[in-house]
Amino acid sequence: MSQDNQKPVRVGLLGIGTVGGGTFTVLKRNQEEIRRRAGRGISIDMVADLNVARAKELVGDAVEVVSDARQVIANPNIDVVVELIGGYGIAKTLVLEAIAAGKHVVTANKALLAVHGTEIFAAAREKGVMVAFEAAVAGGIPIIKSLREGLTANQIQWVAGIINGTTNFILSEMRDKGLDFDVVLKEAQRLGYAEADPTFDIEGIDAAHKATLLSAIAYGIPVQFDKAYVEGITKLSAVDIKYAEQLGYRIKLLGIAKRQAAGIELRTHPTLVPQRRLIANVEGAMNAVMVQGDAVGTTMYYGKGAGSEPTASAVVADLVDIARLTDAPAASYVPPLAFQHDSMSTLPILPIEEVVTSFYVRLRVADQTGVLAKITGILAEQGISIDAVIQREADEVSGENGNQTDLILLTHDTKEGRMNKAIAAMQALPTVLAPIVRLRKEELA
Ligand code: NDP
Ligand code: HSE
Repeated sequence: MSQDNQKPVRVGLLGIGTVGGGTFTVLKRNQEEIRRRAGRGISIDMVADLNVARAKELVGDAVEVVSDARQVIANPNIDVVVELIGGYGIAKTLVLEAIAAGKHVVTANKALLAVHGTEIFAAAREKGVMVAFEAAVAGGIPIIKSLREGLTANQIQWVAGIINGTTNFILSEMRDKGLDFDVVLKEAQRLGYAEADPTFDIEGIDAAHKATLLSAIAYGIPVQFDKAYVEGITKLSAVDIKYAEQLGYRIKLLGIAKRQAAGIELRTHPTLVPQRRLIANVEGAMNAVMVQGDAVGTTMYYGKGAGSEPTASAVVADLVDIARLTDAPAASYVPPLAFQHDSMSTLPILPIEEVVTSFYVRLRVADQTGVLAKITGILAEQGISIDAVIQREADEVSGENGNQTDLILLTHDTKEGRMNKAIAAMQALPTVLAPIVRLRKEELA
């Protein structure tokens, strides 16, 4: 029997900025198609935003607009609260209050869930409501649903993704157009990709929030942002982007979650990726996530990871899921982190020293006999195997001073702790003339 005659799901929107505005527009434009899919209408009945005049201009007279988000939560006619304010402050309080009031919650707020997810998911379970967050990772790409439901048969071996559009946009524009970092960042902000605090983007924090959520869903572990290793793109230098290209690699900011026997690697950092991989060719603000499962092999998901309507696409998909399940018993809800709450894993997040990866290492050295032998000797002492060594011509490095050169080493897989020891020993050599640059490399084969 069709559920078409059922009353619509009534939604209250908290924050109608970039994503909230897109959500309102998409729901309005596609309401008929969405009703046919959901089996009932989805209606935004109330909006809270600090800027009431701007919100009224967008939504018109048919929707009640208030400045106090608590009025939305207190409205007994609202079934679902959509939190699109952002941050860990008032957003956390409002989400917990909405849950306590028995409302389902949809949010795009990865910062909130990566840090406070355990508390929020527990509160929702206790209250028998859903917390849906497809928009929180990779914007419009349905990666949460793919990982949680589509790949549910698999043991996930690793997940690696370009999950911050702002930094991918910056890296692409700097490489292709030779533009300065600051100019490209301003453009990303103008286009609505960047976070309210763009430090979250460029220092890797936003990508690490998303990687934290992916790790929890992939392995059934609690969200543990505090244990994630985070490194952004602000210290990346143009010369390393150039050398990487010459060696057949692109540098991408990757969020990585990988299973090892002893625990889970959870890390975000600039990464050399072979140019021939599809993911190395993901440009601009686009996102892509690769997932390797034992049964399915390698899969990849690509699309817009930010922006008004792409993100709204994911918010509305969550609303449809809730509309379909709203009359069902809570036991039939899909667990937010894919695994049943009483079957979560205790596998620890590994410290960065235990992470296994290969490396790109650049050393500015005196162009003298025996320098390379000392360096390879130090690596051998740490059991680190060298994949390739390249020495740039002296005049490429220092035209005015031909007695320096850049040595670039690519290593095979090793533990980061060993590499740290090797770098400390190499740095102490009098023939190593500048701070050593170390970047991680992933073959993603
Ligand atoms: P915006 O800053 O564009 O929108 C936030 C809105 O919330 C603003 O209109 C703001 O009003 C309003 N607001 C702030 N405080 C309150 C409050 N106490 N009560 C009611 N309204 C309030 O942010 P975005 O739309 O870009 O981001 C929203 C969320 O979505 C964030 O969690 C973000 O990380 C996430 N996200 C964003 C993406 C994007 O592409 N932008 C993509 C994926 C996720 P005012 O402007 O007056 O301060
Ligand atoms: N600031 C984020 C980005 C928005 O650039 O990807 C999407 O989460």
